[in-house]
Amino acid sequence: MGNFTCFFILHFLLILVIIQHVQPSTSLPLSTNSRWIVDEKGRRVKLACVNWASHLEPMVAEGLSKRPMDAVAEQIVSMGFNCVRFTWPLFLITNDSLGSLTVRRSFQRLGLLEPIAGIQANNPSVIDATLIEAFQAVVSSLGRNNVMVILDNHLSRPGWCCGYSDGDGFFGDPNFNPDLWITGLTRMATLFNGVTNVVAMSLRNELRGPKQNINDWYRYMQKGAEAVHLANPNILIILSGLSFDRDLSFIRTRRLTLTFGQKLVFELHWYGFTDGNAWVTNNPNKMCGKTTDYTMKTSGFLVDAGYPLLVSEFGIDIRGTNVNDNRYLNCFLGMVAELDLDWAVWTLVGSYYLREGTAGFNEYYGILDWNWIDIRNSSFLDRISALQSPFRGPGLSETKLHKVIFHPSTGLCILRTPSANLLSLGPCSDSEPWNYSPRKTLELKGANLCLQSDGSGTTAMLGTVCSRSNSKWETVSESLMHLSSKLGNGTTVCLDVDSNNNVVVNSCKCLNQDSRCDPGSQWFKLVDSTRSGNERKLSIDFDSIVDLRNVFSWNLWLIVKSIFDRFS
Ligand SMILES: *[C@@H]1O[C@H](CO)[C@@H](O)[C@H](O)[C@H]1NC(C)=O
Ligand SMILES: *[C@@H]1O[C@H](CO)[C@@H](O)[C@H](O)[C@H]1NC(C)=O
Ligand SMILES: *[C@@H]1O[C@H](CO)[C@@H](O)[C@H](O)[C@H]1NC(C)=O
Repeated sequence: MGNFTCFFILHFLLILVIIQHVQPSTSLPLSTNSRWIVDEKGRRVKLACVNWASHLEPMVAEGLSKRPMDAVAEQIVSMGFNCVRFTWPLFLITNDSLGSLTVRRSFQRLGLLEPIAGIQANNPSVIDATLIEAFQAVVSSLGRNNVMVILDNHLSRPGWCCGYSDGDGFFGDPNFNPDLWITGLTRMATLFNGVTNVVAMSLRNELRGPKQNINDWYRYMQKGAEAVHLANPNILIILSGLSFDRDLSFIRTRRLTLTFGQKLVFELHWYGFTDGNAWVTNNPNKMCGKTTDYTMKTSGFLVDAGYPLLVSEFGIDIRGTNVNDNRYLNCFLGMVAELDLDWAVWTLVGSYYLREGTAGFNEYYGILDWNWIDIRNSSFLDRISALQSPFRGPGLSETKLHKVIFHPSTGLCILRTPSANLLSLGPCSDSEPWNYSPRKTLELKGANLCLQSDGSGTTAMLGTVCSRSNSKWETVSESLMHLSSKLGNGTTVCLDVDSNNNVVVNSCKCLNQDSRCDPGSQWFKLVDSTRSGNERKLSIDFDSIVDLRNVFSWNLWLIVKSIFDRFS
């Protein structure tokens, strides 16, 4: 091989090697900038997390008997999550006789023999490690895969959580000694000081119970926050509200007094069952309006008050058979999109070693299936994927602020079709910028085209004459999620989606008090965004380079090595 050819090949390889390293990476630690969580460079980091439980009786991260932890971590990344909310029971770290149990002993003591064999096969390195070492090993595995971790103190006594009067719900309860809690938080924060992928600690899950009160909340949450910050000043501190993390309304009138800044985040939980069965027994528009209102008043307001808000638990029966859950989720996803919140879905867990006395408990809220390998229902992931990347925030503005039209029941957005002036649903990252004008037209920015219900009353289309009533879109119903306009003859219609994901208009669903109908297909949210369609195309190209890297990097390395060997 001639010198010139060698030089050329080397040069080419060098470029490829450089490309491999230009990955957009988050530079840690994180801090807050007003309502946003940002990295070292001040660029928004949207936490798109999944909950991974390690707080039940065995005190071992669930699933380790089914699959190697690195494989689980890789799958978390491949499903689009960048973070895990990793739960732990206080006594794991405050009671040495528990923390020093080996994984094997912990299962033996509970009479669970199957998980022992499973862990021996799938994660042999932790079977005789202590519970704390096993916990650290999972955090390291997540770190190797660039997954950020929130350490969540879920409860004191290991087990399934949470009951109103389970003695583990508020400061001063039999199992919730505030001093012991501070000791445990301090130990945990110290243990993970210097572990860069641990980006946050949530101090206590779902405060609740007969003892809960605002004064003690301030007293102990401030103490806990200071203790954690002292032990580990790099991490974000996440505080839960009262009433099962449904109520932070008191922050409106009384702020926390902390000695440090730019680290405080609040968390919120919201499920379908938060309101019992009310999504089934009531009209969904009414429920969505009412519960969104409540949530805005009790925690959603925080983003306008300059605090990041993490929805650290939400979820549904992923089989899609729970009507209460399904109705709630459409409403919930609308709010999360509109506010562009950070979140953690409940749960990664396909099955538990032991939950509420049942060994091998199948978790229907779990993204993974019982076997921890298959995805339980990919349509759920499709629906949340648009929310895994930020719509806006510091350092991200690629285009001017505009709207995208989000459709929660599919997780897609309204896009212009390549042919004609019809519209269909597609990935939100492909959306062209829309403008919602003061005269209530929805215009494609820079294109002189606006969304119209056409004369026939069946399709929605783009038109150039935007002054008529069929171009004027108002949000109607108590949910404010219907987009409605009037046909030429005065008939009111609502934007809808047909079974082929074409955008159509139909008569508006469930505007009355009917509880039996589901308006989900007609629910949309106008979401502020600075994402551009072009940006996505760039990122796709980038992804394909990264994929190539995975396939070819080993070969590449061998070639580079052989060339270097030859020269040296
Ligand atoms: C530690 O845990 C063990 C086992 O549950 C229990 O018997 C013991 O009383 C606990 N010790 C303390 C100090 O709480
Ligand atoms: C997945 O979820 C969708 C939507 O809820 C549902 O229609 C479908 O039956 C589910 N599939 C499985 C395999 O659970
Ligand atoms: C208005 O037009 C639509 C679509 O052509 C039709 O279905 C509807 O019945 C008309 N309404 C009235 C009041 O004429």
